[in-house]
Amino acid sequence: MNAKPFDFASLLPPGLPPPALKWTGAARYNFTGGNNDGDQVPLNDLIAAAKAVLQREGRTLASYGVGSGPQGYRPLREFLATKLWHDAGIRCTFDDILMVSGSLQALDLVNGVLLARGDTVIIEQETYQGVLTRLDRLGVHAVGIPLDHEGMRTDALAAELAALKRRGIRPKYIYTIPTVQNPTGTIMPERRRIELLKLSEEHGVPIFEDDCYADLIWDGRRPPALHAMSETGGVIHIGSFSKSIAPALRVGYIVAGWDILSRILALKTDAGSGALEQMVLAEFCKPHFDEHVPTLRRALRAKLETLMAALDEQFGISAEFDDPKGGIFLWVKLPDSVDTRRLYRAALAAGVAINPGPEWSTNAAHSTSRMRLCFASPSKVEIRNGIAALAEVCRKEFGVPSRIANVAQHVET
Ligand SMILES: Cc1ncc(COP(=O)(O)O)c(C=O)c1O
Repeated sequence: MNAKPFDFASLLPPGLPPPALKWTGAARYNFTGGNNDGDQVPLNDLIAAAKAVLQREGRTLASYGVGSGPQGYRPLREFLATKLWHDAGIRCTFDDILMVSGSLQALDLVNGVLLARGDTVIIEQETYQGVLTRLDRLGVHAVGIPLDHEGMRTDALAAELAALKRRGIRPKYIYTIPTVQNPTGTIMPERRRIELLKLSEEHGVPIFEDDCYADLIWDGRRPPALHAMSETGGVIHIGSFSKSIAPALRVGYIVAGWDILSRILALKTDAGSGALEQMVLAEFCKPHFDEHVPTLRRALRAKLETLMAALDEQFGISAEFDDPKGGIFLWVKLPDSVDTRRLYRAALAAGVAINPGPEWSTNAAHSTSRMRLCFASPSKVEIRNGIAALAEVCRKEFGVPSRIANVAQHVET
């Protein structure tokens, strides 16, 4: 019998995103995504933590919420409440924290409670692609505010808020990554945080603070979170263990007052995020988090040094960048003649994956010749060889850099 394949296409509702592409493996030199350094995953301590917590409490996995209720595993929320007070000045209890499946779920939940099609939000001009695609899909108008060395420019924000007000538009939130901005790597100083909070309060627009890179500041000097500085409770704070421990765990969190957290919790209809990851993390973090993070930071910094040296060597003055204050990304400006979307396609064919600037920005003109490079997951040898290969593709496609290093091209193994 020759069965006709079932036709799902005729059943799909309008407005779905285009179909996903099949994964065909990572590029040989992969500078994309927010991946971490595999060598730095604290395996032995995670194994010991998993064993200890499962032996002690494993049978609680028989109930949804492992007996901690719908907001997530209580010992992990207690760890976070202490950590956030100590590191970011946030005064909260475990009850003000909702554990979620990565901060991506936090983005979806906060958007879910606050946004409707046609709304306006304010974001940083260069920002996380996952935010731009979500807002686009929701039909929300995103206004990008330019950044400088101290993050979102509050003078430009003030002008934009005033202009929107004149048009009768009250944005739903101001989304910011104030502490190691993605992709630019800046940290907003305390003075500017005060200005930002003042504008938010004056205009009645809450702040949506995404602090997922805040553990990865090179000198460890984290400014107080906007959430900690706010006197009105008008800041929703989100964070993640993806960047400090490992992204595949998919553990993030939201800190907010019960007025809004209760609305967010009502939207989280997945019966809780995976409990095993939360249990292992809680068991690991209490004794080990504070010693693990500085080791991770040193390893990341060393890789960044390798990347910056490789770019200097291979691209010379054709690649401009600021030394980021922490994190896992370098935001690089190439000559104006380079369209990084075209470079992306050509480089991928040569085994090098980069993130083209326009996918991380609301301003096409500003971002066309920029790219984001993640330096955390490739090895130092891969960083050096990958940047050499990228320079070669760039020279072939765009004629820049006109000279590739003054050294013979060699590939390390
Ligand atoms: C700014 C920002 N927010 C949120 C996320 C999502 O992270 P996760 O869902 O792994 O916590 C990322 C990931 O790279 C990010 O860069």
